[in-house]
Amino acid sequence: PSAADLARAESLIAIVPDFPTPGINFRDITPLLADADAFRAVIDGLLAPFEGTYDVVAGIEARGFLLAAAAAVAGHAGLVPIRKAGKLPRPAASVDYALEYATATIEMHDDIAPGTRVLLIDDVLATGGTIAAAQGLVERLGGTVAGTAVLLELTALGGRALTGDVHALFTV
Ligand code: PRP
Repeated sequence: PSAADLARAESLIAIVPDFPTPGINFRDITPLLADADAFRAVIDGLLAPFEGTYDVVAGIEARGFLLAAAAAVAGHAGLVPIRKAGKLPRPAASVDYALEYATATIEMHDDIAPGTRVLLIDDVLATGGTIAAAQGLVERLGGTVAGTAVLLELTALGGRALTGDVHALFTV
């Protein structure tokens, strides 16, 4: 995608003050997703550095699914969902990780063959806990993390300390 396409897409991310709690400026990507050209541009932008390096795309519930599913189709790769605890129907590998005041759990079916190259996609990199947990899960199941891509990185939270290198299309 051109820089202009991406700039236009970024301009469609709405900032919602005080959601979900007072003091939080929530980044709402739904106007971007609702625009065909912007959606296409960000999917192409997320995939651009990784051409030929991955076998499947893994997306993290819930908003990560929206991007990962589109990226999987565009990149001619399968999709693997990484879900919150208790949602997957078959036994799944599970990892707990720390949130600011609690813990969370994500799970993944062991549907990847050893050595499968997995491109991880999520919407936002904040503290990095979610992505670091997902990276660990993929490796534990015998996959290789081919790369990690997010639409938006909240740089002030320093998430890269946990995740290592991430391709962030937009940063604030
Ligand atoms: C958000 C976001 C990332 C995660 C980033 O998900 O979509 O997955 O938080 O935060 P971190 O870098 O601090 O771990 P959320 O848990 O709000 O889930 P949702 O997409 O289901 O709303």
